[in-house]
Amino acid sequence: MDCWAYISDPILERTLCGLDAGVASHCERVARHAVQLGALLGFDGHDLGVLGLAGRIHDIGKLHVPAAIVQKSGRLTPHEWALMQRHSETGQRIVLAQRDIPFREEVALLVRHHHEHWDGGGYPDGLRGDAIPISARILAVVDSYDALTSERPYHRPRTHAEAMAILLPERCTKHDPDLLDLFVQRVIGAVD
Ligand SMILES: [Fe+2]
Repeated sequence: MDCWAYISDPILERTLCGLDAGVASHCERVARHAVQLGALLGFDGHDLGVLGLAGRIHDIGKLHVPAAIVQKSGRLTPHEWALMQRHSETGQRIVLAQRDIPFREEVALLVRHHHEHWDGGGYPDGLRGDAIPISARILAVVDSYDALTSERPYHRPRTHAEAMAILLPERCTKHDPDLLDLFVQRVIGAVD
């Protein structure tokens, strides 16, 4: 399956129109880097397609988070953070409701779990280690790197070195260490 074939899918159009341009380009990069990492791991075409599609719409649940929270430049209050964290579960429900998304159950599962942490400290389910679907672990790594190196309402874009100084200490806490190592050595070092 070619994940890039779904650019004109209605839900993607709504996603790209409903979220700002920065979010849309972030999702495109997450999808591209995730597919590169999946390919290095030997994923077949089906799994690469599911991964690419999930990467493109992983934050679709943010459409249901108040824009004032998504775009807030300051620190989120505990209540705002709780609302923000709902975007992964909301995203899963949105994807499952779209009959026109191929393999939507698999895509929706990755959307749900893209903020789980290797040590069990993530959300929404606090899954740990290998219990987290490997494609969701991939999305967590590439999403984190791209978020750090992108302009956000609450921070300037970090340089690669600055992003590494944040990401590497998260090896074995937030991120699957093997996937983070492979991403740093073979994906980030090879593109852009
Ligand atoms: Fe997210």
